[in-house]
Amino acid sequence: MIYDRYGRPLKSMRISITQKCNLDCIYCHREGVFEKTYKEMTPEEIQRITRICVQNGIKKVKITGGEPLVRADVCEIVERISSIEGVEDVSMTTNGVLLEKLAEDLKNSGLDRINISLDTLRPETFKWITRGGDLEKVVRGVDKAVEAGLRPVKLNMVVMKGVNDDEIEQMVKEYSREEVVIQLIELVDTDKAFFAKYFYDLDDIERDLQKKAKNVVIRRFMQGRRKYILNGSRVEVIKPMHNSEFCAHCTRIRITADGKFKPCLMRSDNTIDFLTPARNGATDEELNQLFLKAVENRAPYFKKKI
Ligand code: 5AD
Repeated sequence: MIYDRYGRPLKSMRISITQKCNLDCIYCHREGVFEKTYKEMTPEEIQRITRICVQNGIKKVKITGGEPLVRADVCEIVERISSIEGVEDVSMTTNGVLLEKLAEDLKNSGLDRINISLDTLRPETFKWITRGGDLEKVVRGVDKAVEAGLRPVKLNMVVMKGVNDDEIEQMVKEYSREEVVIQLIELVDTDKAFFAKYFYDLDDIERDLQKKAKNVVIRRFMQGRRKYILNGSRVEVIKPMHNSEFCAHCTRIRITADGKFKPCLMRSDNTIDFLTPARNGATDEELNQLFLKAVENRAPYFKKKI
């Protein structure tokens, strides 16, 4: 296992396989990449760079986008990642629009679990948040993911003031099932005015969950998140902004769709391009050096105030 300069072990990677998306969510952080690129890695290139990360002790791989399911070769990518020796957990973050058809194939390709964005159960609100999306497709996608045996199915609910903050209870009730975990997520700042208008603090909700929960699991290697087990429901609360605890427990490295290591969601000034060297014939050892350089660049974005 490898540690960064702040003593944080590297345990997982989050790899974006495309910037393309079939929705256009008003709050989207675009995985911290705002410049447009049409460059994408081939399945072979994705497999190679994942293998190099895994050889350094990373065991968990999350596939993300844009929207990963818009890539026609997404199942091949999952297969190539899951077949790497040392990979123990392959997951994906998706908006769920194309999931109904693909859930079974993804599972058969080696996907273990899945995170689906589901911010609201109101079709009109969904349309507004996603700029035109169809809620029904996502709801059917969630059911298919459960049916296909992806475990757990996590539902990402980004809570926004005046938009869906009144739906938390209903979401928790609606998806009170063993296979499903609801992740309540505080908004990450992508635009000052937007953030000021819609940020919703989940502290009160978390206190309430704490009171009602039968059991609380602290996930030390996942930014110290807590999971609350209530009657039949599982709920996590994620507070990434201005949260030094979140950063202190960060154990992941990101890879952008155009082939750069990205040490932090919130920064773009310390990325390291590996795809250009790879395409120019770099050896595995040379790519490994670039990985180690990216690990060296890791630093907590929100630090403890002293
Ligand atoms: N704030 C919080 N979460 C966000 N996501 C995307 N943008 C934001 C943001 N600004 C989450 C969504 C999606 C996942 C990839 O990232 O829940 O499911």
